[in-house]
Amino acid sequence: MNICVVTGANSGMGMVTIQELLERGDRVIATVRSAKKATLLVQLLREHGVSHTNLEVEIVQLDQLDSVRQFADLLFDRIGRIDRLILNAGVMVPPYHRTKDGFESQFQVNYLSHFYLIERLLPLLEQGQDPRVISISSLAGEGGLIRTDIELEAMAHVKKEQYNPMRSYRESKLLQMVHMRELAEQYGDRVTFVSVHPGIVNTDLFYRGKYGKVLKTVLKPIAQIGYWTGKLYTPEYGAKTALYLATTEDRLENGGYYADSAPRLSNPVVEDETYRQQARHLSKQWVGLT
Ligand SMILES: NC(=O)c1ccc[n+]([C@@H]2O[C@H](COP(=O)([O-])OP(=O)(O)OC[C@H]3O[C@@H](n4cnc5c(N)ncnc54)[C@H](OP(=O)(O)O)[C@@H]3O)[C@@H](O)[C@H]2O)c1
Repeated sequence: MNICVVTGANSGMGMVTIQELLERGDRVIATVRSAKKATLLVQLLREHGVSHTNLEVEIVQLDQLDSVRQFADLLFDRIGRIDRLILNAGVMVPPYHRTKDGFESQFQVNYLSHFYLIERLLPLLEQGQDPRVISISSLAGEGGLIRTDIELEAMAHVKKEQYNPMRSYRESKLLQMVHMRELAEQYGDRVTFVSVHPGIVNTDLFYRGKYGKVLKTVLKPIAQIGYWTGKLYTPEYGAKTALYLATTEDRLENGGYYADSAPRLSNPVVEDETYRQQARHLSKQWVGLT
């Protein structure tokens, strides 16, 4: 039985992922944003006939470093090892918001909080059985451009007037790949680190704005065409690559980037060792790990 930690488990691919892991008999510690979402998640699993005996649901706000710190402390108290850490939670192109820690929200939710969680949990991962960290990045990250600490600093604290939502999303997803690759260089003999593009997947990620519900209804027939043509994935299909990486006995490319359960060419920025180290150093300072 693997001990798995999964962020953003109440919807989309995160929910499919924990469902599958629970069905395999794994112990799953899943994060959601509120007590109400935790109750709903358990209800939904029950409706789907999934046993939740091995499930623990914790409330974690990924836009608050304090909340991430508390969750990491809780894991140290509760478990002696982590076998699979799946960083799935994410937000895409929200209106501009600066978190109480002072960062642009996509930067913090998608990248910095997950960075912090992984770095804190490394000792538990090192105790794991064939431990693997699976970071749900995106195709968007392939187009990321930032490769200096000055640009990184500017993006992390971007001002409202300069905010470009897609650019911030893209760069946050590239940073996830950069971090996985750097950790593979440093700890690759003990832990496997991979990032994933899950495909274009019909989830609430696209419907979270003010007009989300209307958009979802309008796009429903178009989504069907997307499924038929293979251009759009269902959440079940979208979760397949992460689940493959979590469960396969195939040898994985440490630090690699995967899509459709196979390695995929990553952004060349990931190869830049100087930048990878600068990004890790700066991010550690931001989360108070130096
Ligand atoms: N869908 C796609 O086409 C696609 C493509 C490439 C990559 N991805 C990536 O795949 C991952 C999963 O997304 P999805 O498509 O399954 O979307 P989703 O259904 O919207 O799931 C996102 C999850 O992240 C959680 N989350 C968002 N902000 C959070 C915060 N501040 N604190 C804690 N949790 C937070 C959400 O919780 P709430 O429900 O409470 O908001 C939800 O559980 C994301 O990292 C996304 O960037 C998706």
